Amino acid sequence: MRAPTWDRATSGVCDGRMAAGGVAAVPLAARFAALWSSLERVGRDPSTGGYRRFAWTEADRALRDWFAGQAADRGMTCEVDRNGNLWAWDGEAADGAVVTGSHLDSVPDGGAFDGPLGVVSAFLAVDELRDRVDRPRRPVAVVAFADEEGARFGVACAGSRLLTGALDPAAARTLTDRDAVPLAEALRAAGVDPEGLGRDERALARIGAYVELHVEQGRALADLDAPVAVATAIVPHGRWHLAFRGAADHAGTTRLADRQDPMLPFAAAVTSARALAEQAGAVATVGRVQVAPNATNAVPAAVDAWLDARAADDAVLDALVAGVTEAAHAAAHGVQVTCTEESRSPAVRFDAALRDRIRAVLGDVPLLPTAAGHDAGILAAEVPAAMLFVRNPSGVSHSPAETADPEDCVAGIEALAAVLEELACR
Ligand code: GLV
Ligand code: MN
Ligand code: MN
Repeated sequence: MRAPTWDRATSGVCDGRMAAGGVAAVPLAARFAALWSSLERVGRDPSTGGYRRFAWTEADRALRDWFAGQAADRGMTCEVDRNGNLWAWDGEAADGAVVTGSHLDSVPDGGAFDGPLGVVSAFLAVDELRDRVDRPRRPVAVVAFADEEGARFGVACAGSRLLTGALDPAAARTLTDRDAVPLAEALRAAGVDPEGLGRDERALARIGAYVELHVEQGRALADLDAPVAVATAIVPHGRWHLAFRGAADHAGTTRLADRQDPMLPFAAAVTSARALAEQAGAVATVGRVQVAPNATNAVPAAVDAWLDARAADDAVLDALVAGVTEAAHAAAHGVQVTCTEESRSPAVRFDAALRDRIRAVLGDVPLLPTAAGHDAGILAAEVPAAMLFVRNPSGVSHSPAETADPEDCVAGIEALAAVLEELACR
């Protein structure tokens, strides 16, 4: 058996069975600190301080082992579903369960909190629930969705999209990473059968309600001076691959008029994305670009860029992306320009009844919409889903500067435990 790559010595304190007198014998703040630190080193790049926890890599395997270890420490049954998502069941898996969790993967050089805070909080909230309640009326499960960020294969929330059928399994199998490794091959290497991908009625029937705790990815809670909020909505958003195909040539001897330089329509796409987003009250980002052959003294042959755009409504988003494509065509200079949608998430309004029930438990906590995508947003099309946000004093996310104070994390876990108690016991 492989040795675990996460730190069991520090996570042992979280084992409810080891703590005489139940989890209450060790303060929640200490249990959070111990469990949090057990993940700290996994996938962290020492040169940037950021996390590189990409789906189906070594770092991901270590995180998945960590998840299985946490489940085992609690006597929970750990399962991998057909789409590679991880489940830990408190008692028998059954339909109508109360499910909580998030994801463990990261963007390139991401922060520590986006995703893992929700999974760590979920395990600790289950500990709290067990301490308070002998036998909940409904089953409870912790989930870690696979490949939420899409950092390796391009499609965000791949695990939850496959589970709900929002991502076609045949298309998913052919997705490739930057080294042309197909997702099917990466899954097979990780022990997941790619032929099993696809909508999973059994797994969906088991979710009576899904509640995801997540670090806030802005400064609203800092400004409101509140540690925890409940989500209302996710704005429509998506990712588009912009491919510019020109012709490589000598940077000194090729006349400007003879060039097919893909950098020119690429530049027009970037500047128009910014200008059109400003006009529309939206946001648009080109955060990833590849140039070939990437030589200082050669006109490039190809540029590939990825546009991330988010807007208050779907029509505005469509118009924005169409405008960017038009601007690129208008500056084509003989270059072939194509724009392909890689993933798209329509507007989400979280279940109002569930949200109100959560607010009745937590008191008058703030309500926040978000422009960040989440597995809870994908699941919201199928099951009652809700989110809790925990204050992030930096307001920064998808960066090592992302943060949350330990006291706020504890407040988040207490809030989540109260929500689980309400949903599982009443
Ligand atoms: C996920 O974090 C996203 O909003 O891209
Ligand atoms: Mn993220
Ligand atoms: Mn996230």
